Amino acid sequence: MKFFLDTANIDEIREMNATGLLDGVTTNPSLIKKAGRDFFEVITEIAGEVDGPVSAETVAHDHETMLKEGFKCAKIADNIAVKVPLTVDGLKTCKVLRSEGILVNVTLCFSANQALLAAKAGATFISPFVGRHDDNGMNGMELIEDIRLIYDNYGFETEILVASVRHPVHILESARIGADVATMPIGPMKQLFNHPLTKSGLEGFDKDWASTGFSIL
Ligand code: E4P
Repeated sequence: MKFFLDTANIDEIREMNATGLLDGVTTNPSLIKKAGRDFFEVITEIAGEVDGPVSAETVAHDHETMLKEGFKCAKIADNIAVKVPLTVDGLKTCKVLRSEGILVNVTLCFSANQALLAAKAGATFISPFVGRHDDNGMNGMELIEDIRLIYDNYGFETEILVASVRHPVHILESARIGADVATMPIGPMKQLFNHPLTKSGLEGFDKDWASTGFSIL
């Protein structure tokens, strides 16, 4: 499963990219606002930092303007995935951009039927929002299971990009179901490395090793 970081903060991206485990980045208008930097400046910097796909989100609601925005974003770098909303205009835009060989991430997906439409429109990625689903009393991971089943039934190549991840259990469940990607804030990604038994085990080895007086180097 691929790991994307869901942020427009370049320091966080550099920190996680240094682990060698970062496969891409997703951004959205709220994350751009939080970063407090110019849209094109920050997306250009991120796209130069990571090798994998970097999602840049369009903001227009009508197809014509969204398409212009999409083409402009795609020009930033070869690894840009243009993000469009799961609306009629968004899927029309997806279809045109894909026919030009541009990567497209269809966002704000909250049902398996919506995911089916995005796959039919040729989306590179579909972004179901599991955390927001849970927040509204539904089961986000059941949505991922349904999408996986439907995509496998028909051999759709659209990658399931689990979004709105809140904690490591979302990531574990995504991997169990066979999602292609999980995009997450830096907090949950860092949590994946940790286990109290790893910490205490290391402390025990350190203590015993120090008492031997040996040195490896
Ligand atoms: C996905 O690409 C979105 O940027 C993101 O995952 C939304 O997460 P949120 O529900 O925490 O805002």
